[in-house]
Amino acid sequence: MFIRSEVVGFGRYLPEKVLTNDDLSTMVETNDEWIRTRTGICSRHVVTNETTSVIAGKAVTMAIKNANMTPQDVDLLIVASVTPDLTTPSTATLIAAYLGLRPGVPAFDISAACSGFVYALTLADNMIRLGQVKTAVVVGAECLSKIVDWTDRNTCVLFGDGAGAAVLRATAGKGDNTDIGVLSTCIFSDGHNAEFLKTTGGVSSTQNAGFVNMNGKEVFKHAVVSLAEAAETALKQAGIEKDKINWLVPHQANVRIIESVGERLGLEPEKVIVTLDHHGNTSAASIPLALSENTENGRIKKGDVIVLTAMGAGFTWGGAVIRL
Ligand code: UT7
Repeated sequence: MFIRSEVVGFGRYLPEKVLTNDDLSTMVETNDEWIRTRTGICSRHVVTNETTSVIAGKAVTMAIKNANMTPQDVDLLIVASVTPDLTTPSTATLIAAYLGLRPGVPAFDISAACSGFVYALTLADNMIRLGQVKTAVVVGAECLSKIVDWTDRNTCVLFGDGAGAAVLRATAGKGDNTDIGVLSTCIFSDGHNAEFLKTTGGVSSTQNAGFVNMNGKEVFKHAVVSLAEAAETALKQAGIEKDKINWLVPHQANVRIIESVGERLGLEPEKVIVTLDHHGNTSAASIPLALSENTENGRIKKGDVIVLTAMGAGFTWGGAVIRL
């Protein structure tokens, strides 16, 4: 029997507090027009007292409920984040305790920046297909507001906080491109580009988390190429032609990058999901946030073919094809 990972539920959480572009223009030398036209972002959510495990826990709770399951059904929890509550233990173990997962269930964090959800999905899918677990929860969650320098207009207008989650369940498939579930995943990295997007500190170097620092132009240049290439690789591995794509769900960093990737793939703009207008760049949370929102509002439907593609600090990048 060929095992596939069916995606059976999505969840999300955005903190209550909203920062608009006009709010930011009172903090740094910027304005709504510049931010909207250069990035596509209108507002973002930021935490007040909540931590990453709290917002992730809320997204996971919603995803498990939407999957008609309980925390007792979960065999694996993977958290993708660059903003953990603590250096150790992992955010995943904190969430596991908060949600009441069965003692013994493996729970761990991965660090792959904005590609984190695609990386975590890849690991969960492989563990399911190997028969190691039956039900896996994958969550991307970030409190980027905690590592943003709120006096740096080059970065502070871009990022937001939030969490998105997906529940995967083992299901029988045929092993061909007509199956439902995760049809392919691919992940990549090239540490030679680490300088272009990084924090100014870390535990073993400065003993603090530091702040996000980015060469936006360089990241932009790489993003348009690697996002398109990752999508194309994932499609090739899944054996799915571009005309069969219902939705492209790209990492939400900049609407100009998203439009360029859609064009490179030859997709009509209507097939490209854009959500960053109301939550900015939420790193590992951006793809599952978009999936949760657009399955709930009925745009993405059961049976649709979805292409995910992400790129972030490292650089890391990756793609996936899912038939819902
Ligand atoms: O999530 C991981 C992936 N991340 C990304 O993909 C982000 C990729 N990069 C980008 O999205 C874009 O490069 C940015 C949105 C970050 C910047 O857009 P840009 O078109 O590359 O602008 P720029 O950095 O070249 O800046 C153009 C001008 C500069 O002024 P001068 O030097 O031309 O006088 C900046 O100082 O815009 C200025 N500027 C701003 N002006 C108003 C930079 N930030 C701001 C701001 N408000 N917030």
